Amino acid sequence: MGFSQANGASALRIGVVGAGTMGRGIVQLFAQAGHAVVCFDEKPDAAARGVAAVLATLESLVAKGRLASNALDSIRGRATSCASLADLVGCDVVIEAIVEDIAVKRDLFARLEGIVSDSCILATNTSSLIVAEIASACRHPARVAGLHFFNPVPLMKVAEVIAAVRTAPSAISALRALVEGAGHKAVVVADQPGFLVNHAGRGLYTEGLRIVEEKVAGPSEVDDVLRDGLGFRMGPFELLDLTGLDVSSRVMTSIYQQFQEEPRFRPSSLVPPRVAAGLYGRKTGEGWYRYEKGQKVQPAPKSPPSLPSALSVWIDPEAPDSDALAGLVGNAGARQGLSPSGADVCLVQPIGEDATTAALRLGLDPVRSVAVDPITPLFRRRTMMLTVATASAVRDAAHALLASDGVPVTVIGDSVGFIAQRVIATIVNIAANIAQRAIAEVEDLEAAVRIGLGYPFGPLHWGDRVGPAKIMQILNGQMRATGDPRYRPSPWLARRAALGVSLLTPEAPR
Ligand SMILES: NC(=O)c1ccc[n+]([C@@H]2O[C@H](COP(=O)([O-])OP(=O)(O)OC[C@H]3O[C@@H](n4cnc5c(N)ncnc54)[C@H](O)[C@@H]3O)[C@@H](O)[C@H]2O)c1
Repeated sequence: MGFSQANGASALRIGVVGAGTMGRGIVQLFAQAGHAVVCFDEKPDAAARGVAAVLATLESLVAKGRLASNALDSIRGRATSCASLADLVGCDVVIEAIVEDIAVKRDLFARLEGIVSDSCILATNTSSLIVAEIASACRHPARVAGLHFFNPVPLMKVAEVIAAVRTAPSAISALRALVEGAGHKAVVVADQPGFLVNHAGRGLYTEGLRIVEEKVAGPSEVDDVLRDGLGFRMGPFELLDLTGLDVSSRVMTSIYQQFQEEPRFRPSSLVPPRVAAGLYGRKTGEGWYRYEKGQKVQPAPKSPPSLPSALSVWIDPEAPDSDALAGLVGNAGARQGLSPSGADVCLVQPIGEDATTAALRLGLDPVRSVAVDPITPLFRRRTMMLTVATASAVRDAAHALLASDGVPVTVIGDSVGFIAQRVIATIVNIAANIAQRAIAEVEDLEAAVRIGLGYPFGPLHWGDRVGPAKIMQILNGQMRATGDPRYRPSPWLARRAALGVSLLTPEAPR
């Protein structure tokens, strides 16, 4: 199975069925890569309009000097539309990007098999259906694979090549070569819910929502901490507003159900009432944020309280940022106390422990105790967590101190793992389980998350940066505090943390 010269350099004849958002992007990608691409859509003229729209996009690239005009001339001869499915007869590969409906896709694949040659590969761009269920409509399921692109296709430089249970390895390597020949990263993924990128991306939403559900922090506070503290381009609530909560809600539920109600993916009960109320996000003008003329209405930052005079602060000597915190105390004109007993404010920096428990463990007065997250860089944003008993005057004094050099401070309620620890541990744990289940090779997992989700690091590398033992501490702390199996550590993570080796370490050869 596979095209004879599938090395990416040889021009192929590629059929694209569906001339919507994704079909157009796929036409553009492969026409630019030098292949002959023929597009079909069931709606009359839709394919011709789709190809015309692709050429118009390329014309604008020529105008901007980003594409040579002779390159466009040759693409004009290669990107064409056709009026009948039967015109795909000579294709080496057909990529389907039609409506996300299993019955319609199965019907299309069965019809395609009657048209193309036996060596033609049939690929589906489905986001959420089981590829094997589409393949089983064909006489030769070995030729059927998933080829999942992201929107916009030419700019999102990764594609998942999905190996369904009966897909021939030769079809997978041919598709991989095709994608890489077009300049995209191809990642090979098992036919599992959410494939790779949508699976690995779950943690940001599920844990973000859980934090808000528990009233530890509000949506904009979670977004602020994750952007400034961990380097996400957008926080989960900004992303949910961008995608639309109606769409995201369906994805969350579908992945949870397809994983047989795996607790790690359990959707939040906060979502359905908001969907019912039409709080979808940008497209309805209100979601987690409000939008005016398409622009997010930024909640006004609250000014920090003023620093009380003659403040004395005790800093846990074990705190990872004890030197930086001591510098802050000195620069603010406060006094660093030698013992916690007489201090106005006691600062601790727990990992995988809430502020109340940390204060009790250290024999501190919870009324005068405040915790500061040690895993986010202190110079960008500081997350300050209260015990259940922290006095308002202590909260305000600590807030004033932590904001005294102009760095923004987010004040949150008590929670094992603050915001950033919880979210990063969840993301690393889900990625570790993807590796454990060999849904993809570790290298592909890391690349797909960086390119497909725009995270600053691949998730396992990120876990290494924080430290696998700390990730374990956070998850075990959550397990102890909540008893919720969503926090159970993946065996992949637990074993590598125990050995003190990188989370990128593959399984030993058998
Ligand atoms: N939009 C995205 O961000 C995105 C990302 C990844 C994957 N996908 C998947 O890609 C596929 C297409 O999504 P889209 O956003 O491009 O949809 P779209 O609605 O923009 O376009 C679908 C096109 O398919 C045509 N069509 C429908 N049924 C057909 C049939 N039986 N035969 C021929 N043409 C038919 C429609 O006329 C339409 O032009 C879906 O499976 C979707 O889940 C979408």
